[in-house]
Amino acid sequence: MNIEKLKNNPRMPKHVAYIIDGNGRWALRRGLPRTAGHSFGLENVKKHIEFASDLGIKNISIYAFSTENWKRSEKEVKYIIKLFDKYLDVFKNEYLSRDVRIIFSGDLSDERFPEDIRKRAAELVEMTKHKTSLTINTCVNYGGRQEILKAVNELVKIGKPVDEATLTSHLYSADLLPLDLIIRTSGEQRTSNFMPWQSVYSEFYFTKTLWPSFSKKEMVKALKDYMGRERRFGKEKG
Ligand code: FPP
Repeated sequence: MNIEKLKNNPRMPKHVAYIIDGNGRWALRRGLPRTAGHSFGLENVKKHIEFASDLGIKNISIYAFSTENWKRSEKEVKYIIKLFDKYLDVFKNEYLSRDVRIIFSGDLSDERFPEDIRKRAAELVEMTKHKTSLTINTCVNYGGRQEILKAVNELVKIGKPVDEATLTSHLYSADLLPLDLIIRTSGEQRTSNFMPWQSVYSEFYFTKTLWPSFSKKEMVKALKDYMGRERRFGKEKG
């Protein structure tokens, strides 16, 4: 795998999103509880953050917990929140010394999250807001429709007609680069309320691989596939 060659390719995506699906199935197939799949899933998230950083990708978005995921069993939701807590520690211990900006998309004011988690997440955002090399956008308690409604409700208070740029500026992802590539693991071919406004011209890469098994090698395959595509943004072919 020639990382330098890949990194210097001008067609490399600048903003990549991961819909990390298949943790539960990965665990059940190994005779483990579903929650173990989320632990391995989190390890893989860390691996891919490092890899994206090595590749010079500027923005990464990770769809970790949707507004619909609260419907899962209490045990599973509790476990995911515990992992979120661990994830914040990883950020604090391993990323604060680096040029990495941390942001979150989603409603983190939700009181179903322990107060300590909400506070630590907000602190990380504040402490890293001036960093520039890599932005990690973790989507937690995130729903694309909820995000658009949030923007619309802020805008109706202003009471003026709005254009695309104005609406974009009221999204959680307001200052991120255009979303180039969305990778979804586990064979499902849908977007599940993930960044509907931002993804109108994104490229999609679907793989049957379950998230904990999604390797760097497969990431390279996804990137090469993406770089071989012609992005026309509505223009004619050729
Ligand atoms: C999708 O797999 C995974 C999730 C809904 C949860 C992912 C959570 C983590 C990796 C922990 C880190 C948490 C945060 C908030 C940063 P699935 O369970 O839907 O898999 P399945 O389709 O096989 O059931």
